[in-house]
Amino acid sequence: MRLRLWPRSLAVRTAIILFTGLVLAQTVGLGIETIGRAGLQRLEQGRHLALRVMELYITVAKTPPAQRAMALRELRLPAGLTAQLDSAPPARLLVSPLPVQQLVRLNMALVPLPPSLRPAEVVLLGSPAQEQMMIGLRLVDDPALTEPQWLNVTAALPAPRPWQEPDLLAAFLLMTAVAAALTGWAVVRLSAPVATLAAAAEQLGADVNAAPLAEVGPSDVTAAAAAFNRMAARLRRFVQDRTLLLAAIGHDLRTPITRLRLRAEFVADEELRAKMLADLDDLEALVTATLAFGRTATSREPAAPLDLAVLARTLLDEAADARPELAERLVYDGPEHLTVRARSMALKRALGNLVANAIAYGGSARIRLLPPEAAGAPVRIEIEDDGPGLPPGETEQLFDPFRRGEESRSRETGGVGLGLTIARDILRAHGGEVTLANRSEGGARASVRLPA
Ligand SMILES: Nc1ncnc2c1ncn2[C@@H]1O[C@H](COP(=O)(O)OP(=O)(O)OP(=O)(O)O)[C@@H](O)[C@H]1O
Ligand SMILES: [Mg+2]
Repeated sequence: MRLRLWPRSLAVRTAIILFTGLVLAQTVGLGIETIGRAGLQRLEQGRHLALRVMELYITVAKTPPAQRAMALRELRLPAGLTAQLDSAPPARLLVSPLPVQQLVRLNMALVPLPPSLRPAEVVLLGSPAQEQMMIGLRLVDDPALTEPQWLNVTAALPAPRPWQEPDLLAAFLLMTAVAAALTGWAVVRLSAPVATLAAAAEQLGADVNAAPLAEVGPSDVTAAAAAFNRMAARLRRFVQDRTLLLAAIGHDLRTPITRLRLRAEFVADEELRAKMLADLDDLEALVTATLAFGRTATSREPAAPLDLAVLARTLLDEAADARPELAERLVYDGPEHLTVRARSMALKRALGNLVANAIAYGGSARIRLLPPEAAGAPVRIEIEDDGPGLPPGETEQLFDPFRRGEESRSRETGGVGLGLTIARDILRAHGGEVTLANRSEGGARASVRLPA
C-alpha cells in the first residue's frame, strides 16, 4: 500500500520531497513571525489603552468634583471602554498578573502630568482569562468631598489574532506558489538529462550509427553525455571492425573459389565434377550473402520519405517477373499510398527478404499494409504465405545468423540463413521490429512494425 502511494518516477519523488521541505520551512518561519506579531499587537493594545485611559482621567480630573459624575455620563467613551466614579477601587478578587498591566503602568508614568493632575493611586487588575482589564485611578483628594473618588475603567482586551491578517495568508499562498513553481522547474531540469540518456541508449541499441548526444548543459550533464558518446564510438568501432573483418574474409574467399571452379572444369569424372561445382555454388552464395550482410551493417544511406504501398507492389511485381507461375498467388492488400521516413534501399532489402522467404517456403506471398491506428502508433506490414509454416517453438532462433530450418537444408531452396538476420537488423535500425508466427489457418506470417 505504502509502496503504491510512493510514486516511482524520480522527478515526482524529488518534487514531493523538495516541496514538502519548503512548505515545512515556510510554515515554521511564518509561525515564528506570528508569535512576534502577537507580542507587537499586545504592546500596541497596551499603549493605545493607556493613552485613552489617561485622556479620560485628565478630562474627569479637570472637572470640578461635584460635576464629575454628570460629565462622565455625557462623555462618549471609545469602544471597549466603560467607566464610572466610585468611592473604592475595583474589587481585588480578580487579580491576575498581566504583562499588559506593566505596560499600562509604564505608559502612565511616562505621560508627563503636573502634580495636581497626577492620580493619587493606581490599581490595575486583569480578569483571569485576560479578556478584560480593570483600572482604578484615585483622583486627588478634594476638600469638597467627604470620601475618596475613584475613576474605575473597564477595558476589553481582545486576544491578538495575528494569523487572521489577510496579508499573512496571501504571503503564505504566494510563497507556496513560488516554491511549487521553482521546485517543478528544478526537477524538470534535473530529470530531463536522465530521459535523454535513456532515449539515446535505446536508439543506440537499435542502430549503432545513431546520432551522438548533444554535449550541452551543466558540467555533469555534459560529462555524462561525453562519456556516453565515447562509449557509442567504441561500440561503433567494435562493430565496424568485426563487419569489415567478415567482409574481408568474404572478399578474399572469392578468388580461391573462382580458381577452384576453373580447376574443377578439368576433373574428368562427370559426376564428381558436377558435385564439386554444386558445392562451389553453395560456397559462392554464402560469400555473396556474407558480403551483403557486411554492407547493410556499414551502410550510411540517408532516411527519406518512402511510399510503402509502392514498395510492396514493386516487390511483388519483381517476384512475379522471376516466377511467373506464382503471379496469381502474389497479392497486395492495403492502401494506395502510405508514406514513412526510411532508408529505401535497406527497407526494400528487409521486406524483400521476408517476401522471398514466403515465396521460397510457402509458395505464395500476401503483403498486407495496415496504416497506424492512432497518432504515434506504428505502421504494420504483414507478409503471409500458405506454406507448411515454421518449425514450432523455433521462431526466434530463425533470426540468428546462418540459422536455417531443417527442411531448408536441401539445396533447392539454396539460402544461407542470413535473410531474417538482415531483415531484423535493418528494421531495428529504423526503430521497428519483425516477428514470425504461424497462422491459425496454416502458413507463416511475418509481422513488421515501423514507426510512422
Ligand atoms: N515463410 C516461411 N515459411 C517457412 N519457413 C520459413 C519461412 N521463413 C523463414 N523460414 C525458415 O527460417 C529459416 C531462416 O530464414 P532466413 O531467411 O534467415 O534464411 P534462408 O531463407 O534460409 O537463407 P537466405 O539467407 O537466403 O534468406 C529458413 O531456412 C526457413 O527454414
Ligand atoms: Mg530467406
